[in-house]
Amino acid sequence: MTKGEKDLYRQAAEVLASRKNAVALTGAGISVESGIPAFRGAQGMWERFDPAEYATIGAFLKSPEKVWEMLSEMIDVLVRAVPNPAHACLAELEAMGVLRSVITQNVDGLHQAAGSRKVIEYHGNPSELVCIRCWKRFPSREKIGEGVPPRCACGRILKPDIVFFGEPIPWIAQEYSETEARECSVLLVVGTSAQVMPASDIPRIAKEHGAFIVEINPEETSLTAKITDIHLQGRASLAMERLMETLRNGTA
Ligand code: OAD
Repeated sequence: MTKGEKDLYRQAAEVLASRKNAVALTGAGISVESGIPAFRGAQGMWERFDPAEYATIGAFLKSPEKVWEMLSEMIDVLVRAVPNPAHACLAELEAMGVLRSVITQNVDGLHQAAGSRKVIEYHGNPSELVCIRCWKRFPSREKIGEGVPPRCACGRILKPDIVFFGEPIPWIAQEYSETEARECSVLLVVGTSAQVMPASDIPRIAKEHGAFIVEINPEETSLTAKITDIHLQGRASLAMERLMETLRNGTA
């Protein structure tokens, strides 16, 4: 690490230690090292599956069998994935009293698996399936075990309880996230391209209410030049581990 990089870690650690009251906003990038592909970029899901055909609520209503081809592949990957050190570091920051919550756009459950307790699942959670005709809910594991695409007793194909493009964010998740964004003193933005609204608005809300923004991402994003105060450029696990080490010992 260069001296300049070490200084950035030291500054970020100092802000976290002095202000505490931090919130994390995470995206697909934090789970890449758990073997779950991100959405955008060369290896991303949207290179193989056109989101207009596979990720909108309209596409699901029109061709649920086709959308389930992608969903069953995605769920297969998710159920095998385990948290990586970046998830563990966020759980540790919460246990230390530095982090108050995690807002995640991910539907993989890896923050909870790593021990994070206050997790806002902004785009829902595929552990339950819902019938969009009669609104019955079923545990995913049970129903998917019966065959794909899973069906309700009424015959309709079930939808996982995740947010498709064109669907609203579950209102409690949206309200709670915006409150957390307004009230936090530091926002850690980890592994998101910040291209999808309204999640991408959370850093702006936090900044407008005085939060210091620390971004962890190997790439620059639309936030980096405009909103980010410190960009720790690197993979989530390495950057989070360095940040934790600096927080504990004062050096990375
Ligand atoms: P994206 O795939 O858009 O962005 C992933 C980000 O993670 C990129 O900025 C990468 O540079 C970064 N990244 C890649 N590897 C990383 C690593 N090892 N460590 C840290 N960062 C890394 O994913 P999201 O921003 O989460 O929504 O996408 C937001 C939403 O768009 C998703 O929740 C999903 C998607 O379409 C819906 O489907 C509604």
